Amino acid sequence: MQGADAGAHRGTFTDDGISPGGGELYGTLAALRLVKSTVDLPVIATGGLINGADVAAVLAAGAVAAQLGTAFLGCPEAGTAAAHREALAEGARRTALTRAFSGRPARGLVNRFLIEHSPYAPAAYPNVHHLTKPVRATGEPEVMSLWAGTTYPLATAEPAAEIVQRINSELTDVVNSLAERFKRS
Ligand SMILES: Cc1cc2nc3c(=O)[nH]c(=O)nc-3n(C[C@H](O)[C@H](O)[C@H](O)COP(=O)(O)O)c2cc1C
Repeated sequence: MQGADAGAHRGTFTDDGISPGGGELYGTLAALRLVKSTVDLPVIATGGLINGADVAAVLAAGAVAAQLGTAFLGCPEAGTAAAHREALAEGARRTALTRAFSGRPARGLVNRFLIEHSPYAPAAYPNVHHLTKPVRATGEPEVMSLWAGTTYPLATAEPAAEIVQRINSELTDVVNSLAERFKRS
């Protein structure tokens, strides 16, 4: 279950939420609660989750697990391009949903290509993806796809294993501290 905060491509081929008259854009917690109210299947939640407290929140709201993407983009192990890493570390750009790079809605940092082409980019995946490939490969931050979820300024550049360990210990801390706070006397 992917909330609207998620980085990069939506788990959908429709234009819901980015074209006028499209569907509602649900944040991760709202989407999770709505999905859980209608299906009995185990749900893995994703979108904008970046630390242990976020994981605790979706587990509390009924997810069986959490999936994180943007949290790992700054890892030394990640194949993130240099200009993409720099833009993420700077934390100065806002994010937006766009079809401009691939023909399918995806969330990335706002740059010149996104501003200029979003208004008329067609819903034509993967054609637009192939069309823009040479431009995206230039490594030039104003024209490449700088995928990021809304919470990207909170991401770190630690190795992946350390991120997982930290999130796990943050999760334990937050759960223990909430249990202590709401302990029945
Ligand atoms: C660099 C990057 C590439 C992604 N590529 C895809 C993709 O090709 N298809 C897809 O369904 N989701 C893709 N995702 C979305 C993830 O599966 C996940 O929904 C998202 O990362 C969760 O939100 P977060 O980035 O805020 O953690 C991608 C995410 C990132 C950050």
